[in-house]
Amino acid sequence: MVRHRLSFSLFLLLNLATTAFSALKFSRDDFPDDFIFGAGTSAYQVEGAANQDGRSPSTWDTFVHAGGTHGATGDIACDQYHKYKEDVKLMVETGLDAYRFSISWSRLIPNGRGPVNPKGLAYYNNLINELISHGIQPHVTLFHVDLPLVLEDEYEGWLSRRIVKDFTEFADVCFREFGDRVSHWTTLNEGNVFVLAGYDMGSLPPQRCSPPFGYRPCTKGNSSFEPYIAGHHLLLAHASAARLYKKKYQAKQHGFIGINIFAYWFAPLTNTTEDITATQRAKDFYLGWFLDPLVFGDYPETVKKNAGTRIPAFTTSESKQVKGSFDFIAINHYFATYIKDNPEKLKIDERDFELDVGTDMIFKPQNDVPAVQPPLMPWGLQGVLEYLKQVYGNPPIYIHENGMRMQRNTSLNDTSRVKYMEVYIGGVLDAIRNGSNTRGYFIWSFLDVLELLDGFESSYGLYYVDLDDPDLKRYPKLSAHWYSDFLKRRNMSSDGDIRIEKNKTPLSNAQSF
Ligand SMILES: *[C@@H]1O[C@H](CO)[C@@H](O)[C@H](O)[C@H]1NC(C)=O
Ligand SMILES: *[C@@H]1O[C@H](CO)[C@@H](O)[C@H](O)[C@H]1NC(C)=O
Ligand SMILES: *[C@@H]1O[C@H](CO)[C@@H](O)[C@H](O)[C@H]1NC(C)=O
Ligand SMILES: *[C@@H]1O[C@H](CO)[C@@H](O)[C@H](O)[C@H]1NC(C)=O
Ligand SMILES: *[C@@H]1O[C@H](CO)[C@@H](O)[C@H](O)[C@H]1NC(C)=O
Ligand SMILES: *[C@@H]1O[C@H](CO)[C@@H](O)[C@H](O)[C@H]1NC(C)=O
Repeated sequence: MVRHRLSFSLFLLLNLATTAFSALKFSRDDFPDDFIFGAGTSAYQVEGAANQDGRSPSTWDTFVHAGGTHGATGDIACDQYHKYKEDVKLMVETGLDAYRFSISWSRLIPNGRGPVNPKGLAYYNNLINELISHGIQPHVTLFHVDLPLVLEDEYEGWLSRRIVKDFTEFADVCFREFGDRVSHWTTLNEGNVFVLAGYDMGSLPPQRCSPPFGYRPCTKGNSSFEPYIAGHHLLLAHASAARLYKKKYQAKQHGFIGINIFAYWFAPLTNTTEDITATQRAKDFYLGWFLDPLVFGDYPETVKKNAGTRIPAFTTSESKQVKGSFDFIAINHYFATYIKDNPEKLKIDERDFELDVGTDMIFKPQNDVPAVQPPLMPWGLQGVLEYLKQVYGNPPIYIHENGMRMQRNTSLNDTSRVKYMEVYIGGVLDAIRNGSNTRGYFIWSFLDVLELLDGFESSYGLYYVDLDDPDLKRYPKLSAHWYSDFLKRRNMSSDGDIRIEKNKTPLSNAQSF
């Protein structure tokens, strides 16, 4: 997950899970036969080998080396680059149908365009073959925040239209080389959060923003314009890659292509007209900004009205390319938030502002990403699925990320994560029973990966990775046992607590939450 802060204070709710696991009220057999259960990671967060075998840096490398993740880096991460066989074995033991991972553009094409790195090519071929030979479907994301640094330096990456051509060529290499075995392609991960965090708040790579906005002091950027420009190019690049796939590959490779967005759910704080209207505005900005062009061919009216000339207009041919350019929509969902109308936002108060697009939204969320152990709000995920059904024509949906953030802990007894999974998976089942076209569910994350803002301080993994062990041994948490029992149709058997005995605890700076 990419954790992102909006402009309001932290609101922490601890939800104490019940400790005993009663028999589940549902089983895997209640889901459609072809429903996919998996778990996910992304390249920079797990691979390691950042400087090996010809990989060049991405914007993410620069960010973490400048202290973006409190000193933690992806130089080694979970070393999946060398340990992929062991990891695939764990996936088999867990009973996953599918593994969601991303391809590091700068490992495959170190110059951003042009020659393919044979060692990068070999790595992804090996990983994909290992998955396929164990009956696990590869679900592959092409861009997960890690733009080759050379392209950022050359033309400011997503701010330039040149990205559309380079991204399409990168995608072409992936389809050509791996597409015979990859069933599901996702062009972009969380484009809607990427533009806010990367170009408005400046809290994520490429860390652009302009005063008075910005989560950190920024040296370059333009918070008022750039999020909309980058967003436009993301949509055009997605559409271009999807079109290429459909024209050149789909008929013979029989796969599917889609796009991923971060999907908060929003509920009005009160039932006043103002809060209800503000809640719709929040949905338009967070979901509609990307989904409306994809489904209807243009940005939502509210977004166009509030952003004015700062948001690029689609030409007729762009609109035609973007509209309908997907086989599925993938969402990342963690929690819901309550919305209160906030006309004050239109009066500039410099000290409060981290986000200029936030001004355009004119609302005040009442809770932020909870630090750890978010409250259980499965109705939020159901709300998103229902909204996609009613407003966007019920497209095929993959839930790409859902999971519980906890402090990294040597205890493997993650009972509250198990509770979270139980209620959210149950919520998905309810949504399907009410007609949602949801086709799959992926837990974030398979391992305790490098988290983008927290480094190794927080974790979402089914498997703990012992970073003090030179071999980076993986240990199943209770959640891994629970998921496995669920997937293998066994009763919850494990009561799990194996504590890893260590001289040294990796929790030394866990207090910085
Ligand atoms: C942002 O870009 C707009 C349009 O080019 C310009 O008018 C404005 O001054 C810029 N703002 C900053 C902070 O650079
Ligand atoms: C708003 O109205 C709905 C429908 O009547 C109700 O379910 C909900 O609890 C109300 N919300 C608040 C905050 O009062
Ligand atoms: C780690 O887990 C143990 C056992 O559940 C708990 O007692 C302890 O408070 C946790 N530590 C942190 C830092 O979360
Ligand atoms: C179930 O679907 C119906 C028809 O689309 C809709 O009216 C209703 O609100 C949905 N129920 C829930 C709980 O989402
Ligand atoms: C699982 O538990 C339920 C209720 O406790 C029991 O009826 C059922 O037989 C058990 N199934 C298996 C496979 O052990
Ligand atoms: C795991 O944690 C739960 C609650 O946090 C506790 O009730 C349970 O006893 C623990 N299990 C073991 C085996 O320690």
